[in-house]
Amino acid sequence: MYLAIRPGRPAAATVRGSVGSVKASPEAARLLDADDPLGAVRGAFALPDGVIYLDGNSLGALYRPVADRVAAAVGTEWGRHLVRGWNDDGWWSAPLRVGDRIGALLGAAPGQVAVGESTSVQLFNALTAAARMRAARPVILTDADHFPTDGYIADSVARLLGREVCRTRDPHEALRRRGGEVAVLAWPAVDYRSGELWDVAGLTSAAHDAGAVVVWDLCHAAGAVPLRLDADAVDLAVGCTYKYLNGGPGSPAFVYVAARHQAGLDQPLTGWHGHARPFAMEAGYDPAPGIARARIGTPPIVSLLALDAALDVFGLAGLDVIRAKNLRLGELFITCADELLHGLGFEVATPREPGRRGSHVALRHPDAYPIMAALVEAGVIGDVRQPDLLRFGFSALYTSYADVYEAVRILAQVTASGAHRDPRFSVRRTVT
Ligand SMILES: Cc1ncc(COP(=O)(O)O)c(C=O)c1O
Repeated sequence: MYLAIRPGRPAAATVRGSVGSVKASPEAARLLDADDPLGAVRGAFALPDGVIYLDGNSLGALYRPVADRVAAAVGTEWGRHLVRGWNDDGWWSAPLRVGDRIGALLGAAPGQVAVGESTSVQLFNALTAAARMRAARPVILTDADHFPTDGYIADSVARLLGREVCRTRDPHEALRRRGGEVAVLAWPAVDYRSGELWDVAGLTSAAHDAGAVVVWDLCHAAGAVPLRLDADAVDLAVGCTYKYLNGGPGSPAFVYVAARHQAGLDQPLTGWHGHARPFAMEAGYDPAPGIARARIGTPPIVSLLALDAALDVFGLAGLDVIRAKNLRLGELFITCADELLHGLGFEVATPREPGRRGSHVALRHPDAYPIMAALVEAGVIGDVRQPDLLRFGFSALYTSYADVYEAVRILAQVTASGAHRDPRFSVRRTVT
């Protein structure tokens, strides 16, 4: 799946778009910024001076109005209204209200998305419920390179239900070979390492042809890639909200359950918030109708309200405009990498075709960790995925083309100067 960098120096390193063909140069980046319909939105984000932030694929930046919303949620709603906030401030209804707002970004009609818990918890619930929809089929088919939590949870669900996990890098081939046995295809929309965008519609359709259901992990797609969950007949999906949705560290995850599956959804985590009559305090579990049954326990309200405020920025910018800019940022990055990193031992590990890219670009280098540590010290924040990938995320709402050019220029400087060989950069810390 990883594509090697083209050998040698590319003949024409250009970025093509509405402003014409642009060279990988600071002037070209400035021209793209001048022509950027999202340029004005950047000022609404809190970005520290002297830092180029290319890690929104891990933790989105702070949309400034969120700070006031959190202050009000804590100071007024919690501080003054106390427990009355559940009704008077709409805390109880927030998971589904915010769910509908996220659903609008996923191509989902209202009433199919609930917010709460972590992605890992949502994944466990969704994957188990999906496997129960195909009780006679033994296989959970998943990506061999999936994010670790997805793999761990698939294994646990398989143990719990007496199924088997089949890991592959070629889902179409695996469906052809074992399709009749597959209960669930559990797949990422965007690969967290390489940034490859999978064909959600095509894979969903192939899984359905085999009689399986799908559970998509949308962590690296939600808020960056336009999705069409309803139109593509997706069954279930989960995702986090702290990356391109800018919900803040540890903001709650979401789960999408297609309306046609809701009545029969048999979840393992039958929490009281998903009960038909939660305040009747009944001894037995009777699931609520509709998406409300996908609720589990008490959600992290302050974090959920922060997320709610963060979503307002999508009222300023449509996902199509965001996607177009993300792709252009990625293309400029790759072009600059070809030009400026030539001969420094990097290769582009992300597909070059726009249709196969999410919103980050990964570079492979044997010294990925110390290079990134030195780069962060030089003011450019990206991250590393072991053993050898440097990741750079583009968030059209606040990343500028000048950021991209400068980041690659500084990366070239750091690497060429050997700054990363300083022993302090080999001391491994957590780099998210
Ligand atoms: C693709 C993917 N799935 C799942 C997760 C884990 O999510 P959580 O920590 O919210 O459980 C992540 C975290 O970055 C991720 O990138």
